[in-house]
Amino acid sequence: MAKLALGVLVSGSGTNLQAILDAIQDGSLDAMIRLVVSNKADAYALTRAERAGVQTKTIPHKSFDSREAFDQAVVDSLRDAGVDWIVLAGFMRLITPVFLRAFPWRVINIHPALLPAFPGVRAAEQAVAYGVKISGCTVHLVDEGTDTGPIIAQRTVIVHEGDSADTLQARIHEQEHQILVEVLRWIASDRVTVQAGDGDQRARVKVRE
Ligand code: GRF
Repeated sequence: MAKLALGVLVSGSGTNLQAILDAIQDGSLDAMIRLVVSNKADAYALTRAERAGVQTKTIPHKSFDSREAFDQAVVDSLRDAGVDWIVLAGFMRLITPVFLRAFPWRVINIHPALLPAFPGVRAAEQAVAYGVKISGCTVHLVDEGTDTGPIIAQRTVIVHEGDSADTLQARIHEQEHQILVEVLRWIASDRVTVQAGDGDQRARVKVRE
């Protein structure tokens, strides 16, 4: 089987990108990152990629008239780089059907909450404000909604008395780094498949043992 070729989309600090780079470097993940794309030129994630010798590209969303035109530019770059799967690792843009049609069921996202609770931005803040006792993180396939796609894996994180959004987010982050790499190992060994929805049942992910 060919080595899993990844494209990683980022907007920020890139600790999840770092977790993937580290796992590839230490041989625990059999994959390569062909391209890291950021919509922000100052994303620290770009520095992490460059340090690891990975090709990067900044595509500022503000230079495009529509989300679709921006997505088409990102898709073109990812196709040129020859990627098979895309990881949204702190990518702060909603993606459109233009993107999803180019890589059907081949885009994953990491979200800092136990979906379907607390989708969207500032999930840890939402969890603390709500007063939940357990939160966590979710890796899911991306569909046309916001954080609504079929779930691949989740990890729980206990919410402590006195947690702030920042302290909770920090513990969630640690779990994110592990679960994201674990899911990529499953994908690299071709264990992740999608089962079509049926009636009331949504499309769902099967992970082969
Ligand atoms: C993570 O919490 C991820 O769940 C969310 O954005 C954050 C990115 O963090 N989608 P980092 O840039 O990987 O450190």
